[in-house]
Amino acid sequence: MTLSCSPIFPPMPPTLQTPLANPLAHWRAEFPIFEKVIYLNSCSLGALSRAARGRVEGYLDQWGARGAANWYDVWWAALADLRLRYGALINARPGEIALHPSVSSILGVIGSGLDTSRRRRIVTTRLDFPTVPYQWLPRDVEVVLLESPDGITVPIEAFEAAVNDQTALVATSHVYFTSGAIQNAGAIAEIARRNGALSLIDGYQAAGQIPVDVQALGVDFYTSGGLKWLLGGSGITFLYARPDTTASVVPLANGWFGHREQFAFDPTGFTPHDDARRFETGTPALPSVHAQLGGLDVIEAAGVPAIRAATSALTEDLIALAHERGAHPKVAPDAIDRTAIVMIPRSDPRADVARLADAGFIVDMRPGHVRVSPYFYNVADDHRAFLEVLLDG
Ligand SMILES: Cc1ncc(COP(=O)(O)O)c(C=O)c1O
Repeated sequence: MTLSCSPIFPPMPPTLQTPLANPLAHWRAEFPIFEKVIYLNSCSLGALSRAARGRVEGYLDQWGARGAANWYDVWWAALADLRLRYGALINARPGEIALHPSVSSILGVIGSGLDTSRRRRIVTTRLDFPTVPYQWLPRDVEVVLLESPDGITVPIEAFEAAVNDQTALVATSHVYFTSGAIQNAGAIAEIARRNGALSLIDGYQAAGQIPVDVQALGVDFYTSGGLKWLLGGSGITFLYARPDTTASVVPLANGWFGHREQFAFDPTGFTPHDDARRFETGTPALPSVHAQLGGLDVIEAAGVPAIRAATSALTEDLIALAHERGAHPKVAPDAIDRTAIVMIPRSDPRADVARLADAGFIVDMRPGHVRVSPYFYNVADDHRAFLEVLLDG
């Protein structure tokens, strides 16, 4: 597929021109949203690319022209293509990837198959996306919610102290949605392994914006999805399941996509796939699958290491400038542990977000903070102009 990535959109006012050049800024033309607003909210929802729109329109054309006949060639192939290409992005094989509509549905399926009869403890943290603890709280298990002393990260020693031979699962984030801090997922997986527990790392805020290598991390389960940094929109998420350590997890919540002989239509027995597809349930949302293939077209072409470098430079510039202006963001102390989720303390973030929207800036809020997240399609003038409106506006 050929992607348009010609020079970028109208220049900012001369006073805001900065020397910080983003080598990926030419990608901006791929995202029409910038013709209307300054978009700085990719940690909520990645911007829509022309590639994703083209893929979804192509899917609609197929649906319109051939209906169900598409299943036998292009749509079945699209599912396989997505498992293959997302897998390659995180250094996994296609058979290690299951497709789902949400992280919550992935957690439900894993929860239905995880044996907690002898090991009742599930370790997670206060900083994780709440859908992670929600999955376990109603069950007959012991949920240990690790505290965060600084609201930014959870010390590795806390995992070390909480994970024991009663632990079935350690479920936590790769990048905390609350602070953007990168966790040492490899060390957490090692603690779990040493104690005979499984690790589940929620990489929704990681995959796409930072390089991820599930083999090197040694995690057992790794989740992520299209909504944010993978530019695939809603309705498509991914589960990586490491074959040698997760084979014993056979879900009770299942469906025909998890059946090894799906098209035998045999109602008398259920034989799960012996690879990660046993975690799949029903018919995938094809518009979302196609949108995600378009998102991957962009992510692959731009390259995750280059995306990380460009995004990190923008984020560091934003953080430095905010400090200069006295608006000290709540982020990890070291740049290497930071990602493009920047929380700026504010007394009335709801009013700020509304005022910024009126001025043409799309950002978000969390209690006590305006949350801003640049990505590789942003330029320094975006966040510099945003800060002027936020702090001087
Ligand atoms: C870290 C993290 N996990 C999970 C989710 C979403 O979970 P679900 O796919 O169940 O809506 C989000 C945000 O939407 C998130 O930031």
